[in-house]
Amino acid sequence: ANKSTLIIVSNRLPLSLRKVDNSFESSTSSGGLVTALSGLTDSMNFKWLGWPGITAANDEEQENAQRALGEKMAKGIFLEEQLAQDHYDGFSNTILWPTLHYQSGIEFREEFWEAYRQVNEIFADVVAEEAHTGDLIWIHDYHLMLLPSLLRSRLRAQGKECPIGFTLHTPFPARDVWRGLPVEKELVTGMLASDVVGFHTEEYKENFATACVNHSDVVGLEETDCIRMGDHLAHLGVFIVGIDPIKFSETLKNPYVVNRINELRHMHSNKTIMIGVDRLDYTKGLVQKLKGYERFLNDNPELRNKVVLVQVAVPSRENVKEYQDLEEEIQTLVGKICGEHCAPDNFPLVYMHRSISFTELTALYSVAEVCLVTSQRDGMNLVASEYIACQGHRHGVLVLSEFAGAASFMQEGSILFHPSSTDQLSQAIYQAVTMNQDERKKRYESLCDFVTNYTRCA
Ligand code: UDP
Ligand code: G6P
Repeated sequence: ANKSTLIIVSNRLPLSLRKVDNSFESSTSSGGLVTALSGLTDSMNFKWLGWPGITAANDEEQENAQRALGEKMAKGIFLEEQLAQDHYDGFSNTILWPTLHYQSGIEFREEFWEAYRQVNEIFADVVAEEAHTGDLIWIHDYHLMLLPSLLRSRLRAQGKECPIGFTLHTPFPARDVWRGLPVEKELVTGMLASDVVGFHTEEYKENFATACVNHSDVVGLEETDCIRMGDHLAHLGVFIVGIDPIKFSETLKNPYVVNRINELRHMHSNKTIMIGVDRLDYTKGLVQKLKGYERFLNDNPELRNKVVLVQVAVPSRENVKEYQDLEEEIQTLVGKICGEHCAPDNFPLVYMHRSISFTELTALYSVAEVCLVTSQRDGMNLVASEYIACQGHRHGVLVLSEFAGAASFMQEGSILFHPSSTDQLSQAIYQAVTMNQDERKKRYESLCDFVTNYTRCA
């Protein structure tokens, strides 16, 4: 008999492939979605379907790529290059992502929408074929909002019965912003074909419910958190995503990491180290972070030689113009701050535009006294939790934007600030850098409770 399987479907797979000569190199994918789901897959019978991020030139290449992915229980859904680009760079990341994150001035383009629909259809074909009655299908994120309904009708036609869950890993915006999309109704009804639709916070869930009620010709609001579309009921819920704190505490014991922490401490022996880890994305407020830090350096000359900000900016979505422009803007700002404040024996800013290894990341989280999360908007933000997981010994201070989903759960222990206010950020940094041990400990304990109670497996 078939044992039932959890089928995870996301655009991004846990493994990213890169073509090198005639073979493939694989590396762990970046981003919160992969981090959040990886723990789950350690404990269940599962399959993970998604776009491999590359185009195969022929069948043999595709087979090789499939084999590499198979080692992680992943299966690639291959797409033609132009189609993949219009779906991923085009509709998903030039239209949907900015809308979900409250950006204005978005230009809708029919050909991107067409590609988005087509890719969701292709995913529906593959997933329906893979699924057996009783499997649980769990679809993730904004690249696949139409998939629940497309899949539902295919499964029905094939006589298969599978519960379908959908989780959105981004904010869901207020109604007026969402209405800016001419295809909002299609997207909402696509998601509503799921049995369960999950969000990271109450606010996102409520915004979604409001977006649904707006289409009262299609849907009805049953009791709280239940939406009817025809004879189908979708349950809305809030599911807090977390991390695996044990993975970090184990890595902190690794002799290489212990040594690396000592090395970094020694290198910055008379300084307070601050850390920032973000994909290079305008939603992360990197420009605002650098400006706030610059303000802090200017406002507090006595602390200028006593702090260093280590900022990791992981390259992301580099084909999209907004991301290219942002990279330039950040480089200019980094140059300006370094030009003004660096000396042969003092550098207050270390900027790294690349991804780093897990061990290096853990060492940096551990050695830093302060972590700066400055998102303009952010579904959750797992970096905040990862930092806390590495701070048992030091009781580091988390400076956290009010507009990160994480702020709904971590407001008590962190220093919250409004991410558009350079002054507030400068003051928050000052408060973090000068905070006494007792207060640090008190705040840390409250943050730690959250991180350990909501692990990614909880
Ligand atoms: N991360 C990564 N590569 C790096 C640095 C960080 O994959 O070089 C991870 C980080 O540990 C975290 C994730 O990327 O788990 C970022 O998740 P978050 O929720 O903060 O933001 P997202 O990128 O999903 O918007
Ligand atoms: C965010 C999104 C994920 C995405 C990740 C990395 O966390 O919610 O769906 O996988 O960013 O972005 P990328 O475009 O590289 O998949």
